[in-house]
Amino acid sequence: MRVPLIAGNWKMNTTVREATELVKAMRPGLDQIDNVDKVVCPPFISLAVVRELIRGSSIKLGAQNIYFEEKGAYTGEVSPLMLADLCEFVIIGHSERRQYFNETGEIVNKKIQAALQAGLKPILCVGERLEENEAGRTREVVTRQLMSSLAAIDSIDGLVIAYEPVWAIGTGRAATGEQANETIGLIRHGVAELYGKEIARDLRILYGGSVTAGNAAEFVNQSEIDGALVGGASLKASEFLSIVKQTSEMGRVK
Ligand code: PGA
Repeated sequence: MRVPLIAGNWKMNTTVREATELVKAMRPGLDQIDNVDKVVCPPFISLAVVRELIRGSSIKLGAQNIYFEEKGAYTGEVSPLMLADLCEFVIIGHSERRQYFNETGEIVNKKIQAALQAGLKPILCVGERLEENEAGRTREVVTRQLMSSLAAIDSIDGLVIAYEPVWAIGTGRAATGEQANETIGLIRHGVAELYGKEIARDLRILYGGSVTAGNAAEFVNQSEIDGALVGGASLKASEFLSIVKQTSEMGRVK
């Protein structure tokens, strides 16, 4: 059974004070909504504060990145062990990290392994670039990313995948529900080949890329799509709340 999941990726936005205000504005509304996993992913520096502010609520916490070593001389990095103490989820392999911080498939793979080992639930992001989409290479690119991210990983218990076409992120140009559903179906098929049908059937796969309160229903209504990874629209309490509410109203546990 796949309970829908809506995750807010705040990216490099909000000071600690702004994060505090945002989560305070979201908490009462979000806490009243059932049948959806609600996850907020603030910057590292606000994780501890937000954790306190959502204590006793049904809101869950995620980080936006991780390093794959447990500890040591890695100035500026945050380890799986540190995060496991603080939050439940961690976004891994976001296209912005692949693009601006040179994260390769191999690095993403190590991060997924490290996160799973520490008991964190990775939200693995995959997605094709515009030129790849236009060249009809979506399937090939997404499959390649999937295979390299999950290479030599025996158990994917807790894993969530987010299909985020790069051309749809932060552009206001979302995919259509049908397009996203089709690619997510392919991803599920790929997971079935690696881990078997049952595991693939139970795996949550989200859509991400310019999801707003105005188009969220189009995605969460699709048979293969189990929720959304929301960037810009997760920075407005009322908008994020509306996305979660609409998802809950679909009443679909797939
Ligand atoms: P966006 O970002 O909703 O602002 O397009 C989505 C994401 O990058 O996860």
